[in-house]
Parts: sequence; structure tokens; C-alpha cells
Amino acid sequence: MPSLQSLHTFGLNAQALDIQFLNHIDDLSNLKEMMLNHQCMILGEGSNTVFIEDFDGSVLVNKLKGIDVKENDNEYLIEVASGESWHEFVLFCHDHQMYSFENLALIPGTVGASPIQNIGAYGVEVKDFIEFVEYFDFASGTIKKLLKDECQFGYRDSIFKSGNLPPFFITKVGFKVRKNAKLVNTYSPLDEIKALSPSRILETVIETRQAKLPDPKDLGNAGSFFKNPVISKRHYQTILDLDAACPSYPVDNEFVKLPAAYLIDQLGFKGSKLGGIACHERQPLVLVNLENGSGNELIELAHNICQKVWERFSIKLENEVRLIGKQGLISL
Ligand code: FAD
Ligand code: EPU
Repeated sequence: MPSLQSLHTFGLNAQALDIQFLNHIDDLSNLKEMMLNHQCMILGEGSNTVFIEDFDGSVLVNKLKGIDVKENDNEYLIEVASGESWHEFVLFCHDHQMYSFENLALIPGTVGASPIQNIGAYGVEVKDFIEFVEYFDFASGTIKKLLKDECQFGYRDSIFKSGNLPPFFITKVGFKVRKNAKLVNTYSPLDEIKALSPSRILETVIETRQAKLPDPKDLGNAGSFFKNPVISKRHYQTILDLDAACPSYPVDNEFVKLPAAYLIDQLGFKGSKLGGIACHERQPLVLVNLENGSGNELIELAHNICQKVWERFSIKLENEVRLIGKQGLISL
């Protein structure tokens, strides 16, 4: 059976029944029978996916390429094939003075996966620039398009995670950015930049991420393992009674978001190990494959963290990464 180890950034030793690479959009219609009647999953760069054990199905890896740019007086309209690398796309836009994506630099993965969990960082989410998402609908065998407002974007969420669409393959994403792009520097440390410019944002985001986050090339990981929890203000007040320093970010009148990294850090997990898996020593929200870790060890450490966070703060952490077991998507 072919190995999935190099196809997901966490790098666990798992296999699939079969792995195929999609280079041409026209080939999707030939895959209809496979996608509808057999266990299959689509993979971009595997940076938000962890294969906990051998996957009893086929994997289709996205290699669709191409970028098309149009412009009018005020905007750039950029249509990008879904298999393009996200970070390369950010650099391409920056090099061509199509600014806005700088805050999202160095996020691993493909352009096609970016709307699925509505990638976000440093005060910006990809939904801010999405015009449409085009996908191949395996049930009807046709290409369909959802406009931004139909995508139900939320924090690390969209219609593409809801299970309410028939089996689909995102083929293209359309973006729109303004020619006089508004720079976003609300999130620390971007708020400390002296002479604000797209290039300074790009450099600062890259430097900050390189300092904080482990590079999957050196240390297997899938970025933040858990989402930052959103809780009621009343609940937050009870947490402040326990820990007056606990930070929060405003969501709306009723809710706040807490940094899960802080909660996990307070419980002493930072740097802790379970077999070959560890809670990263600089960013405790990131679990890492230190040394030939196993899926069982990863799940056990994640459970331990969830249990302690629940006991101390009455908060249920949710995994942000997609965990794949023998039969497909599993929950913690
Ligand atoms: P994959 O992991 O390959 O796939 C993710 C899911 O989407 C899977 O369920 C897959 O089946 C599905 N999928 C992928 N492509 C398609 C397609 N074309 N059609 C249909 N379904 C598809 N995320 C953030 O939001 N912000 C961050 O700051 C961030 N930082 C990260 C840092 C590191 C070091 C790492 C490793 C990850 C980070 N992530 C971050 C998570 C990750 O980069 C994003 O979720 C990214 O969009 C995943 O892209 P991918 O191509 O690797 O997706
Ligand atoms: N913190 C600690 N201890 C630490 C590290 C952080 O207490 O060791 C606390 C601090 O209070 C800090 C706060 O956590 O201010 C937030 O940390 P950070 O700025 O590193 O961001 P994060 O909330 O942990 C989120 C995203 C990241 C994204 C960054 C930057 C989620 C789940 N994660 O992380 O996205 O890059 O903000 O915007 O929302 C990802 O999704 O994979 C990802 C890496």
C-alpha cells in the first residue's frame, strides 16, 4: 500500500489503498464513480490533515495549476487554480503590487483548501478577499460556483465543512482586491511597525511566524491543533475569577474568544511529551511529531489536554485539524 507520510505535514506513518494525482480538471468527470461509490478523500498539501492510522480508501492529490489576473480601474480580479501553493500565491500577488494577502503569508497548503476552513492570521481571513469558489460536483458531474455570501464563512468554518454539499472538488477560487488596499495592522506585532507598507507587513508576518511556529519540514505538525474557543462573557467572568490574567478577544456583545494556547500553557503542557508526540515548546497550541509518533499517542495527548482544560476552565476544546481514521473523518 502507498505511504501517506510525505503527503501530510504531521508525517505520521500511515498508508492508503491507492493515491492518485489530479493534473487536469477534465479528469474529474472520470473520477465520478470512484468518488461516489468508494471511500475516497481529497488532499491538497496535507497541512490541516492528520492520518491517524491507515486509510482504507483512495486519496486524490490536487495538482491543478494556473493564475489568471484581470483588472478594472479600482480592483484586481484574480482567479486561481486550486492546486496552487497558498504562500507562493501570496508572494506572486505582492510581487505584482496586488496587495492585501500579506497578513496571510507563510500559511502552508493549497489555494483550494483556503476557503474550506477560511484560513486566517494576523487580523485577516481569506473570506475578506474571496469573490467566488468554483467546484466540481461529483453527483451532477458539473462545475458549480458559490459566491462569497453563499459560502457561510465563519471562524475556521464554511459551507465546505458542513457536510451539506454533495461530494465536491474545489477547482478554482476567485479573489478581488482593491488597488488602494487597506492595510490591516491591528494584530500584534504588526501594530508596532513604524513605516507601514505591504512589504513591512509581509516581512513582519514571515519573521513572526518563523520565530513562533515550527516548520513542518523540520518538525511534523499541522499548525494549531485546536480552535480558539468562543465563550459567553458570563463564562469568561468565571474564568477571570480563577485567573485574572486570562486574555480575551472581542467577538460581539455576547461572546469573547480565548487563546487556547494560554489555557494549555497555564496547565503546564508546554513542552510535555507523550511517546513521540509533544506539545510544542514555543506554541502550545501546536502538537508536533517529535520522533516517530503514532496516531494513538497523538489522540491520547490531545485527550489529556482537552480533559484538563475542561476540568479547570469548563471549556470544551475542538480540534481544528482534520483527523482521518480508517473510514475517513473522525472526531476527537
Ligand atoms: P489539506 O490538509 O490537504 O486538506 C484540508 C481539508 O480540505 C481536507 O478535509 C481535504 O479533504 C479538503 N480539501 C483540500 N483541498 C480540497 C479541494 N480542492 N476540494 C475539496 N476538498 C479539499 N491555518 C490557518 O487558518 N491559519 C494559520 O495561520 C495557519 N498556520 C499554519 C501553520 C502551520 C505550520 C501548518 C502546518 C498549518 C497551518 N494552518 C493554518 C493550517 C493549514 O495551513 C490550512 O488549513 C490550509 O488551508 C490547508 O491546506 P492544505 O492544502 O494543506 O489542505
Ligand atoms: N500564548 C501563551 N503561551 C504561549 C503562546 C501564546 O499564553 O506560549 C497566548 C498569548 O496570550 C498570546 C495568545 O496565546 O497572545 C495568542 O497566541 P498567537 O498570537 O500565537 O495566536 P494563536 O491564537 O495561538 C491563532 C491562529 C493561528 C494564527 C495566529 C496568528 C487559531 C486556532 N490559530 O493562533 O493559526 O496563525 O492566531 O493570527 O485560530 C492555524 O490555524 O493553524 C494557525 C496557526
